[in-house]
Amino acid sequence: MCGIAGYIGHKPAGQVLIVALERLKYRGYDSAGLALVDEGEIRLRRAAGKLKNLSDKLDAVPAPGTCGIAHTRWATHGPPTEANCHPHLSGDERIAVVHNGIIENHEELRRELQAQGAVFRSETDTEVIPHLIASVYRGKPLEAVRATVARLRGSFAFAVVFADQPRRIIAVRQGSPLLVGRGRSAPGSAPAGRARNDRSVTDGGTPSDQRELLIASDIPALLPHATEMLVLEDGQIADLGEHGVRITTFTGSPVTAVFKPIEITAEAVSKGKHDTFMAKEIAEQPEVLRRLLDSRLRDGRLVEPDLGVDLRAVNHLVFLACGTSWHAALNGRRYLESLARVHVEVDISSEYRYRNPIAAGGTLVVSISQSGETADTIAGQRLARAKFIPVVALVNVVTSTIARESGGVLPLLAGPEIGVASTKAYTAQLFALWLFALQVAKAKGLLDPETESKAIAAALRLPGQVAETLAGCESAVAEAADLFSAANDTVFLGRGGEHPTALEGALKLKEIAYVHASGYPAGEFKHGPIAQVTAKLPVICLCPHDQLYEKMLSNVQEVRARHGRIIGVGHAGDRQLKDLCDHVFPVARADDEMLQPLLSILPLQRYAYHVARRRDCDVDQPRNLAKSVTVE
Ligand code: AGP
Repeated sequence: MCGIAGYIGHKPAGQVLIVALERLKYRGYDSAGLALVDEGEIRLRRAAGKLKNLSDKLDAVPAPGTCGIAHTRWATHGPPTEANCHPHLSGDERIAVVHNGIIENHEELRRELQAQGAVFRSETDTEVIPHLIASVYRGKPLEAVRATVARLRGSFAFAVVFADQPRRIIAVRQGSPLLVGRGRSAPGSAPAGRARNDRSVTDGGTPSDQRELLIASDIPALLPHATEMLVLEDGQIADLGEHGVRITTFTGSPVTAVFKPIEITAEAVSKGKHDTFMAKEIAEQPEVLRRLLDSRLRDGRLVEPDLGVDLRAVNHLVFLACGTSWHAALNGRRYLESLARVHVEVDISSEYRYRNPIAAGGTLVVSISQSGETADTIAGQRLARAKFIPVVALVNVVTSTIARESGGVLPLLAGPEIGVASTKAYTAQLFALWLFALQVAKAKGLLDPETESKAIAAALRLPGQVAETLAGCESAVAEAADLFSAANDTVFLGRGGEHPTALEGALKLKEIAYVHASGYPAGEFKHGPIAQVTAKLPVICLCPHDQLYEKMLSNVQEVRARHGRIIGVGHAGDRQLKDLCDHVFPVARADDEMLQPLLSILPLQRYAYHVARRRDCDVDQPRNLAKSVTVE
């Protein structure tokens, strides 16, 4: 969790870094801080609570400087107080560090440093880093950082500034993501604010072309200043300064810095006309699915991305995922079993990583992750690779660790998802899994051209059906939210492909509206949970016209007989359903039944959003959460 950023350029670094933190706060947002280097001093500003508190502080007490580092936190070691905010300083306050990740041996290092006289001011694991650097710093930043990383265990990305190195940032990556960004060159324009006595390049280097240089945990925070970027690899150190960017390994071997153009635009990471990122991302779903489908069609046929795996030989698939991605995987199993007749296991990554899974021939692990940085999923796929099981990643962020550590990548192409509640990535995951199932079926000779054509026709109509559903359900959803936003419990029931929808609908309501909610397979409800039903309990029943429709209606009857308040999700014009339910959220009918869950989830996303708004919850940054769960 946590996000880090850094900037060297000609603009006021404080303002640049506040915008960068704004774009990283999905990674954690319980406190924030920055450190700017100015006139041989480090200017520190930190604030507990929302980022607004930090920017207010910066407005009240401005900090000059065109070079600095910044951090937005999701507390692990120590509560979100100002003392625990990053950046953390060395004892003489001449070195500042921001860090994302966990230093596992921090207790031992802390004791050692304290014995040498270091005084710690926070409860964080991070604070050992500036103290360690200071203990070996003799005017050569790279040497000091290299000596320090040799002492650290754990997963980390951190950045350091030095009071006597006015235009220099040293950034390190080992296990947590870190990108280096570079702006266009501005020949002839000397950077404003450059200290006259700047002798920052003490370790050699080539003359600078005076581009703005940045570091960040994720691409949006590099925008709009950077036009190109490189992904720092584990075990590498980036040295940013007047000399440009130099990359070396932890042991000092030089690495060629290869920058690639950034393809995401600043608009893609703004809310546009929407009041929240979640609302924007829900609305983007038709376009997301259209883009994904376009990328997989050539001349009216499905094209298969090369995954570097012989899919004909795969007879056992393991899906690894957490949270919403795990819900998508549950439907992925249905797709693969039914279309490609492959045996599928769906594993929660945090469970898989501590089992001793069997590595039989013909097994393929598919890691499913929006961010590609979820620690448990990374650990799970590393375990699989250690057992020589091939791994493929289904990810949204293709520069992520999960993508880079996989043999093949199935990109979701959903664009940046910033709201903590996953919405467009979920429907993209379902769609990508269905397309993957068709690809495996085709490889195994189980997809005849006629079935393929029918599937493509159904897929082509899907984006329009998503748009139709979002527009068509809105008033019923808002009305139900008016009636039930005060309810502290909600139950979601679904069968077959709609069971994951029930789980996902419940997760959305829990995470952004803080309503206790449970999703059940409807046939299981009578085995205990039905005891919860009272005349006050909203029960949301997923009843599209699929093969289990009649069974589902019987389950709805059971709730009705116990006076539950029933909200049905079904097709507009379904009289039978209307007669059974107190409210109906209408959804379009997918041409292929397997795609129906992509439509049924839409009113549940909007319902969670509306209930959250009515309960005055922060939709994009719900309490206690972070977008990427990069800790165990
Ligand atoms: C989704 O709304 C959640 N915030 C969360 O469950 C998320 O899906 C989970 O942490 C997995 O993230 P990933 O897809 O980035 O791996």
